[in-house]
Amino acid sequence: SRRLTLGDIAAKKAAGEPIVMVTAYDHPGAQIVEAAGVDMVLVGDSAAMTVLGYDSTVPVTVDEMIMLTRAVRRGLTRPLLVADLPFGSYEASDEQAIATAQRFVKETGCDLVKIERGGTSVDRARALVAAGIPVVGHVGLTPQTATSLGGYRAQGRTAEAALAVIDSALALRDAGCALLVVEAVPSDVTAALMPLLDIPVIGIGAGSATDGQVLVFHDLLGIYDGPAAKFVKRYASLRAAAIDGVTAYADEVRDGIYPAPEHGYAMPVEEAARLRE
Ligand code: KIV
Ligand code: NA
Repeated sequence: SRRLTLGDIAAKKAAGEPIVMVTAYDHPGAQIVEAAGVDMVLVGDSAAMTVLGYDSTVPVTVDEMIMLTRAVRRGLTRPLLVADLPFGSYEASDEQAIATAQRFVKETGCDLVKIERGGTSVDRARALVAAGIPVVGHVGLTPQTATSLGGYRAQGRTAEAALAVIDSALALRDAGCALLVVEAVPSDVTAALMPLLDIPVIGIGAGSATDGQVLVFHDLLGIYDGPAAKFVKRYASLRAAAIDGVTAYADEVRDGIYPAPEHGYAMPVEEAARLRE
């Protein structure tokens, strides 16, 4: 089936059909989310933590994100593919943002790029759109700058802070963003925002009023160890299943059960006899 388009995503919003987005970071992950029928796939810079072992999204590099995004692209046919531009790769100037985003588009084949925050990122978004690169904005909790937000915590919990989130969202819409991700804000903020926006809004920890939802692959499948954010729901326990599988393998090797005869290769009996001579 053909690749979805931004028109298809806008049509879902217009029809009130929820848009399903999930992250993926490698080829088997891409094949899994495609088989599950999601609409959009995000190679999030959450990869820094979920697959690369950094303790925040800040250290991940453009080269690392490009390698992961290329692997995901090779595994996808139908969903739209969004790539996160990592921290430090787009904020300094429009020229820097365009150069980085062009690398992603050329080297990975992603359909859109995502950048975080309002403020200077509004100008970066406008420049990218003018350069012909579709952009996803990201407001509310923006992990790349979590330190200056007081850590990984919900945003917009006072009326003033909520209006700041809404202002950023509207500015990003005005800058030409095709989509918006809203992360970790009270449902009341989302409720106030939604009637003001004509572009599709994907929520994560933003309640149910958005046009769609996104979750991190490793969180929803229970691959990632450790505490999860309040908005995470676990739909599987792959870490436990994987540990069980590897433990069973280790036990069978140690007990001489694996490999069994059926796992081996045969040679003609006369060749085996010659070999023994
Ligand atoms: O990096 C990521 O996974 C994200 C989503 C959680 C929106 O930005
Ligand atoms: Na991200």
